[in-house]
Amino acid sequence: MRLNKYIAQAGVCSRRKADELTLAGKVKINGAVCKTPGYDVMEGDVVVVDGKPVEAPEKPVYYALNKPAGFITTTSDEKDRPTVLSLLTDVTARVYPVGRLDGATRGLLLLTNDGDLSYHIAHPSQKVWKTYLATVSGYLSRDELWALRNGVDIGDKKKTAPAWVTVLKEKSDMTQLEIKICEGRNRQVRRMCKAVGHTVLDLQRTAIGDIKLGRLHEGTYRRLTPQEIEYLKNC
Ligand code: URA
Repeated sequence: MRLNKYIAQAGVCSRRKADELTLAGKVKINGAVCKTPGYDVMEGDVVVVDGKPVEAPEKPVYYALNKPAGFITTTSDEKDRPTVLSLLTDVTARVYPVGRLDGATRGLLLLTNDGDLSYHIAHPSQKVWKTYLATVSGYLSRDELWALRNGVDIGDKKKTAPAWVTVLKEKSDMTQLEIKICEGRNRQVRRMCKAVGHTVLDLQRTAIGDIKLGRLHEGTYRRLTPQEIEYLKNC
């Protein structure tokens, strides 16, 4: 297997990053620096990246999880809070989450051991639209909706990129919104709503690009279909 694919499928980084590390002399094979990204890794070769041995890659697997609130999107937690990985009860592959959902947010989370796909989807340049269902306090004025749609200052260097925002329901002093964003800043939807004066009471991600949460029960997961995997690789 080509060296960059080997490193990416082992979950270390993307193929492109693997090429950079290789050309920078950070990759050793059987103890010797290898600066050839096209090197064909053979069974028994010992690959070390940045001083860390790389385990032979597993067969790539892809899952969609319906994350409940209260689970954190990391592989381990020093405060011993439950992680999303603890929900994957019969998955033996060393998968990790693609991007993040904050602890209180529910909904669609992809998990894979395919480093390439993960970096491809999560990279800001990729502009994969993520869809959220947000229940927020109060009612939104036309100006507030306009601001959410056109970009708001959430305290970062740049305003948020334009978003699709639709009011789905207004009831007893709260509003249900569908919000589609193509960025993945930390707690972005909550911060966008706060920037226009509304608190998010409930937040669920319902889609990542064309991959839908659908009727997957909370706390359960499914394998992505070959069509969904193909879509993610090409989106
Ligand atoms: N926006 C948020 O506020 N939280 C998430 O988890 C994802 C998007």
